[in-house]
Amino acid sequence: MKLTVNGVEHEIESAPLTPLLYVLREELGITSPKVGCQQGGCGSCTILVSGEPRRACLLAVAAVDGSEITTLEGLGTAEALSPIQTAFHQHYAAQCGFCTSGMVMAAHAYLENGGGTGRESIQEALAGHVCRCTGYVKILDAVSAAAGGEVASNQRWLPQPGEEAPVEVPGAPA
Ligand code: FES
Ligand code: FES
Repeated sequence: MKLTVNGVEHEIESAPLTPLLYVLREELGITSPKVGCQQGGCGSCTILVSGEPRRACLLAVAAVDGSEITTLEGLGTAEALSPIQTAFHQHYAAQCGFCTSGMVMAAHAYLENGGGTGRESIQEALAGHVCRCTGYVKILDAVSAAAGGEVASNQRWLPQPGEEAPVEVPGAPA
C-alpha cells in the first residue's frame, strides 16, 4: 500500500485493517492527529483525504490506499502559519491543544470549499468536534475571521534568536 502524506509518498507496512490514525502516528511518526475517543465521536483525529475531512480512527488504511492525505503538519510551519492557524493563534482558540489539529483541519477544508463567515455554517462544518477547554466561541471567532480574510497569511509569531518573547498573546483573555 502507498500513501502520499503532506506531499511525500510512503510505502505502508502496517496490516491493511490498521486504522489510518495509527499508521500516521506509529508508522510514519506524524502526531498531530490525536487519539481521542477512537469511535468517530470527538474529531481529534481529523485529517484530510483528497481535501475532505475524515476521521482517521475510523478509516482502515487499505480503504485509503493510494490517497493524498493532509495533516496539520502539511498546512504551515511555526515560522509561517497558514491563515487558519494564524486565526486560531490571534483569537486564542487553542488552550490545551488536544482538539486543535482536528478543528484546524476541518476549518481549513471549510475555507478551501468557500465557506463564509456565518456562525451557523461554521458550526455545521465543525459539528462533532469536541473541545474540553475553549467553550467554542473563540474557535468560531477564529474561523469566521479567517473566512473574512481578517488575518495575515504569513505572519511570524515566534521570536527570533536575540528577540524577547512577547508577553501579551493577541486575543488572550488575561
Ligand atoms: S479519535 Fe477519531 S473521532 Fe475521536
Ligand atoms: S483546546 Fe483543549 S480540548 Fe480543545
